Amino acid sequence: MRIGVIGTGRIGTIHANTLSRHREVGSLILTDVDPARAQELAHRLGETAAPGVDEIFTWGVDAVVITTATAAHAELIGRAARSGLPVFCEKPIALDLPGTLHALAEVEAAGTVLQMGFQRRFDAGYTGAREAVRSGRLGRLHTVRALTCDQAPPPPEWLPLSGGLFRDTLIHDFDVLRWVTGREVVDVYATGSDAGAALFREAGDVGTGAALLTLDDGTLATATATRFNGAGYDVRMELAGERDTVVVGLDDRTPLASTEPTGPPPADKPWTGFLERFGPAYEAELCAFVEVLRGERPNPCDGREALQALRIAEACEASRREHRPVRLAEIPDRVQPSFD
Ligand SMILES: NC(=O)c1ccc[n+]([C@@H]2O[C@H](COP(=O)([O-])OP(=O)(O)OC[C@H]3O[C@@H](n4cnc5c(N)ncnc54)[C@H](O)[C@@H]3O)[C@@H](O)[C@H]2O)c1
Repeated sequence: MRIGVIGTGRIGTIHANTLSRHREVGSLILTDVDPARAQELAHRLGETAAPGVDEIFTWGVDAVVITTATAAHAELIGRAARSGLPVFCEKPIALDLPGTLHALAEVEAAGTVLQMGFQRRFDAGYTGAREAVRSGRLGRLHTVRALTCDQAPPPPEWLPLSGGLFRDTLIHDFDVLRWVTGREVVDVYATGSDAGAALFREAGDVGTGAALLTLDDGTLATATATRFNGAGYDVRMELAGERDTVVVGLDDRTPLASTEPTGPPPADKPWTGFLERFGPAYEAELCAFVEVLRGERPNPCDGREALQALRIAEACEASRREHRPVRLAEIPDRVQPSFD
């Protein structure tokens, strides 16, 4: 099969690498608004670069992988759907809810595949936590604590394109919270802080954010994130039940130092970023996409799943701005009828 990859930046390079080595993938066509970037990667992988996005749709591909900046996702998803092409797209679908709902409506009208890039669903730790919940080993779950801490902030020019800490980063925690617990979020209370480096204030974003989420079975969850965690890249989830407690992301590279005299020693080589921490998961989600294309498995993360994660992020943004709890039911999950 031949796959078109649109966007050859950080994550596009990872996905193109995986697909280029995959035995079921015959060839790739790579493109980017910066043609030199696509050409360089194509040269390195022995693949073909296209001069623009149009060629992806006219040169004859079997599927499209969208790894552009988020602002371009929705339009490209719609274009692929209208061309009848299956899509793997990086999260999120769009920077806002209307864009997300319209892209989803196009996919659903066309009946095409849209697999979203929530790679934590392919991580061994989160998979183990999901099994622990489902098996009943934890007993009744009462508390979940999720966190995502980047070691260093992204470049200042990238921040305004990201959609903000809740839509860009905590969206991973929201997706995997639903996936691991099998429950839905019913309401949120969120807040954020732009104390510290001025770049967050200047971008209208927060550098640190926190949300308290109530799940539909009464389980309470917290999700926190920061863009500035000097000790390293720290992604964890603790799940506490009446019988047992498990934690995702606690290993010999967790950037965490115990102050107890008998505590474990600090990590020699703490995680520094998502590309190394989730390397195997990024590879597994693309292999899953190839299996979906071959009709060998169902879609592991469709557009409706991504919409639910974005609705939680939207509820958190509204809560943070308005300083009030927000019910998920306030955030639409369908295109709203127009009465003009
Ligand atoms: N799943 C994850 O863990 C994860 C991690 C990082 C990024 N992402 C997502 O991946 C996407 C890309 O992020 P990144 O970190 O690779 O960014 P990046 O800036 O490194 O790369 C984006 C690339 O897309 C290109 N591009 C932008 N608009 C385009 C368009 N209209 N047509 C063609 N090319 C275009 C840019 O020139 C750039 O090369 C974002 O949506 C981000 O949210 C996901």
